[in-house]
Amino acid sequence: MKHKLTLLLLLSFSLGIAQKNKTKLKPKAEFVSDLMNQMTVDEKIYQLVQFTSDGTVTGPKTGDNYITWIKQGKVGSVLNCTGAQATREVQRINLENSRLKIPILFGHDVIHGYKTIFPINLGLAASFDMKAIERASQIAAAEASAGGVHWTFAPMVDIARDPRWGRISEGSGEDTYLGSQIAMASVRGFQGDDLSKTNTILACAKHFAAYGAAEAGRDYNTTDMSERVLREVYLRPFKAAVDAGVKTFMTSFNEIAGIPSTANKYLLRDILKSEWKFGGMVVSDYTGVNEMIAHGFAKDDQDAAQLALNAGLDMDMVGATFMKTLRKSYDEGKVSMAVIDDACRRVLELKYDLGLFEDPYRYSDEKREKETIYKKEYLDAALDIANKTLVLLKNKNNVLPLNASQKISFVGPLVSDENHIIGSWAALGDRGGVAVSVKEGVEKLLGANAKATFDKGVDFDKADPSEMNQALANAAKADVVVAVMGERENQTGEAASQTNIDLSVTQKNFLMELKKTGKPIVLVLMSGRPMTISWENENLDAILDAWYPGTRGGDAIAQTLFGQNNPSGKLPVTFPRSVGQIPIYYNHKNTGRPYLGPTDPEQKYKSRYTDSAIEPLYPFGYGLSYTAFAYDNFKLSSKTIRFGEKLKISIDVANTGSYDGIEVVQLYLRDLVGSVTRPMRELKGFERVSLKKGEKKTVVFEISSDDLKFYNIDMKNEAEAGDFEVFVGGNSDAQSRGLFGLVK
Ligand code: GLC
Repeated sequence: MKHKLTLLLLLSFSLGIAQKNKTKLKPKAEFVSDLMNQMTVDEKIYQLVQFTSDGTVTGPKTGDNYITWIKQGKVGSVLNCTGAQATREVQRINLENSRLKIPILFGHDVIHGYKTIFPINLGLAASFDMKAIERASQIAAAEASAGGVHWTFAPMVDIARDPRWGRISEGSGEDTYLGSQIAMASVRGFQGDDLSKTNTILACAKHFAAYGAAEAGRDYNTTDMSERVLREVYLRPFKAAVDAGVKTFMTSFNEIAGIPSTANKYLLRDILKSEWKFGGMVVSDYTGVNEMIAHGFAKDDQDAAQLALNAGLDMDMVGATFMKTLRKSYDEGKVSMAVIDDACRRVLELKYDLGLFEDPYRYSDEKREKETIYKKEYLDAALDIANKTLVLLKNKNNVLPLNASQKISFVGPLVSDENHIIGSWAALGDRGGVAVSVKEGVEKLLGANAKATFDKGVDFDKADPSEMNQALANAAKADVVVAVMGERENQTGEAASQTNIDLSVTQKNFLMELKKTGKPIVLVLMSGRPMTISWENENLDAILDAWYPGTRGGDAIAQTLFGQNNPSGKLPVTFPRSVGQIPIYYNHKNTGRPYLGPTDPEQKYKSRYTDSAIEPLYPFGYGLSYTAFAYDNFKLSSKTIRFGEKLKISIDVANTGSYDGIEVVQLYLRDLVGSVTRPMRELKGFERVSLKKGEKKTVVFEISSDDLKFYNIDMKNEAEAGDFEVFVGGNSDAQSRGLFGLVK
């Protein structure tokens, strides 16, 4: 006993010394300057080098042995190394070989969750709930940072108007205003208010820029647009991320009008670092520097590296071009010490902000990791948030919500799935044994006396006759059929563009067979993009878009199908009738010959198709509820406002149905005449309003001339006097409510 007491005393005494001696670092600027003054040119260059571990594969294999280079002190950051133990080990190897003990920065794609997986980002956008999105990012940061991750490559803020592009699943859809709000909410969630806290991580606005405008929706493809469209549509969400304090950016693979973003000086130095005064760090995308050779923009790795660094890129992801060639370029006078110093400082300042110089292992704590991952509060939040993302697209004869007394036949390749349901870019999310499938969610909700049958019936692309007949037999005996169908999770995400975005032929044929039973059919659609479901819309009774709803997806779908959750999601992206309509988006221009539809007195010489309507299948902002909402008593605080004055726009919203529900009230404005043509309408505000049945509330929006700014004929971001039309309602087809004037 005596011996133990002595040991304890000795331990506490030595810990006390360590704590007392814990050096308080100098202020950031001074600390980083002192450190850089000790660094050699090579050591500064090596801070700009990032390699991938052998963990998750998120790009072409490069065969690099990053540990060798870490042992040579040549690596500043590593991506895809996760877990407290693994990151601690790699950090140890690094520190043992770093002359100045500079910690490594660990990055990972924590896009919509780390272990607890939330709905994919397109689904999160459908919630129109910024608090929910911030909370999802906050929880993702808490779990990731407990897993040794310092930096996430999120939020992805690429505006996307083309559902052939697989990465539409990762962003916030087609609207710049919604995308900007979500960018800010995500940055707040990931970074919190103090990066030195061990439950916050660096965020990364990506992919800068205009990556979602890839021609033909083909990933990595060329983009070319006017500066006005670039700034008006694609850059605003990035600026919003800067305004929210995002600490890093990632360049995009694509070129814009002939210049790859990886070495686009106008984008990186003129706009981001000068005009927007961005003080953080810019990393390339995966081998994006090397790929400028394929672009035909650089003749070799050295040329590519010096072009990128001089254009404002600070870190080379996986390409090894900075590591292998920048010293030579420096010796040859192709890159200056000032440029190297600026990039190095940006990297070191982030490591300081994270507290890594005080304790490089502070995020690699196995005990905290175990206590944090899959916390009940996180899993409950995943359900709550998923419930806000589901979008009810059709509900003929109120076939939904279902009730427990009905005999229900659940069918489809996704009915028992625990893999696809968490979507792509699901970090360390478990793809079996943790996520709740639809079957599991329904059985949990209905309990033992469930009168439900569950049959896959068909796979995505193959049908076993006996399996299909079994499913059809159960469907024929049911009161209602629920088909859980869609895409595999890897049919969207990176390198997953498709020319055909229909349901697979096998699934469609199965639906046609189910239709022959004469039973009401509900389609629960899981996909990472809008799909062309015109036949389904025509022939089925109800359609619930679930996106990929995440770890608690099955519970959310079950609770929604049976009415415990009244769907409130709204589309963040337009659903085309056919691929032939793409690109199609709500905030389009009027043209000189707008087609007014079947009643248009001029049916030929108009901007239309001869073989299709021009309207989408479902518009941006659209989503039904189990209840109904009525709008009334529209008011403007004034018929005109001056520049700098505020205008209040109010309207009453009533729940006229028989369920409590939530309506996303949306405000759109149209600038009737401008020095350049203006969109038919633009989202300028939205509010999720909770209304009990019979309840009425007044919703008030406040706008000013700042909200009316656009890039005018002189490319100045200014508002112009004139008349504006106001639309308020539950989707982007909201009716006009009147005009107001902006006067000098
Ligand atoms: C990928 C993606 C990018 C991701 C990066 C690291 O190629 O384009 O979004 O963050 O590589 O995994």
